[in-house]
Amino acid sequence: MARILVTGGTGYIGSHTTVELMQQGYDVVIVDNLSNSNADVLDGIEAIVGTRPPFEQVDCNDAPAMAGVFTRYPDIVGVIHFAASKAVGESVEQPLLYYRNNLMSLVTLLEQMKAHNVHNIVFSSSCTVYGQPTPEHLPVDETAPIQVALSPYGNTKQINEEIIRDEAHADKSLQATILRYFNPIGAHPSAMIGELPNGVPQNLLPFVTQTAIGLRKELKVFGNDYNTPDGSCIRDYIYVVDLAKAHVKAVERMISGQSEEQVEVFNLGTGRGLSVLEILHTFMQVTGVDVPYEIVGRREGDIEQVWADPSYANKMLNWKAEVSLEDTVRSIWKWQLHLAEQVCSLRKELGLREESMDDLMMLSEESLNSSIKTFNEFKESNTFNVNKLPKIESTALVSEEQDNTSKEVQEFANGKNLSNKEYEESSIDDWFKKMT
Ligand code: NAD
Ligand code: WQD
Repeated sequence: MARILVTGGTGYIGSHTTVELMQQGYDVVIVDNLSNSNADVLDGIEAIVGTRPPFEQVDCNDAPAMAGVFTRYPDIVGVIHFAASKAVGESVEQPLLYYRNNLMSLVTLLEQMKAHNVHNIVFSSSCTVYGQPTPEHLPVDETAPIQVALSPYGNTKQINEEIIRDEAHADKSLQATILRYFNPIGAHPSAMIGELPNGVPQNLLPFVTQTAIGLRKELKVFGNDYNTPDGSCIRDYIYVVDLAKAHVKAVERMISGQSEEQVEVFNLGTGRGLSVLEILHTFMQVTGVDVPYEIVGRREGDIEQVWADPSYANKMLNWKAEVSLEDTVRSIWKWQLHLAEQVCSLRKELGLREESMDDLMMLSEESLNSSIKTFNEFKESNTFNVNKLPKIESTALVSEEQDNTSKEVQEFANGKNLSNKEYEESSIDDWFKKMT
């Protein structure tokens, strides 16, 4: 079967797409520099699919390394290019980082594709290119005007699209599919892969789930005075597995020569606009978990309302977003609980008691997710330093075992297995019950 190069394949959308590609029989090779993901994601993919995809830890900006990938995998017939930096706020603070990473990686990739006779690319674009569509363009279809970008991140997507068009004009052998995603949410139904936001989540659903599990005090709803039925902003939230399936369809269309234009553009959304409050209340209803929230002022730069007209993608790709909002929300909650379980088992490995859970959170500064990442990094790095765990060392460990445990934590850093360590399971379980 044909091989697809998936850049950014250990990331959120890339990992779900890799699963769908492999389940449809495609060979895959993942390229990712792990700047915003973890190699553990490969375990999750393997657990779902039964096969581990080949992985190359390579930066897409590194031309010789990318050339090496194309040389090692001469059967690559197409590329899905997810790799990019994607935090809107960070892009405002560090625009050059975004222009370098998001523009140069595409240029390098296109050069290497040409050098190795690979002619098909699917590119991850965004509904952000439409800005706030005027009322006559809502729902927004692919013919709606592109508006001045509201952030350097958004601008990189617009420029990327132009780079692809210009190169396609110059090189008639290049075939490109630009997919403009609306708001991807959810996790694989197995809860083996999902979204791992870095630090304090900026996006709505990760913030909702972290509030529901008790990591955040309350959700701030940014504005209830918009010109929408309930006053909160409207978006088109699309389930990430539905989104992933659209990529398989896009690849199939391209490599089987069915594309009708050299550069095709598709909106990937559900066609259903939902408000922030509707999402929030659906989450609470489906999970039965209360999410404390407060209405606050508008967030600067927010679009009031945008949702997709996906009919072109429905028709041309023979694809449709199918999963209900309720099932999508269930997948998100299941994933958050899976993450909590991972933290619990890490605690067990470290032999920590219930009260030290807060310290684990503090250790990561921000979130449950980064706690897991941090611990995995410690486990892998051999540079574990108990001084980085001041409160755990001083107060949170089982008091009578304190000295021993500190020693064992250090041994842990040196790769020793602590699985025989004695700990009080009940307190961990109590904590977990409290969390859920
Ligand atoms: P993500 O951060 O989870 O995944 C991106 C992956 O790319 C990460 O694993 C990261 O380590 C990797 N990466 C970044 N720069 C790289 C480089 N130079 N070389 C190699 N790997 C690199 O993000 P995601 O949410 O999965 O988004 C995937 C794509 O979809 C991005 O292009 C993003 O801009 C686009 N997109 C995302 C959303 C969204 O809301 N998540 C919406 C619209 C478009
Ligand atoms: C959704 C709604 C917020 C958090 C961003 C990027 C965009 C695209 C998708 C990549 C908005 C509200 C949010 C919170 C809230 N990414 N909200 N409280 O703004 O549509 O788009 O992600 O291309 O480029 O800008 O998504 O999830 O941040 O917000 O009330 O704590 O939730 O105001 O109305 P957004 P989002």
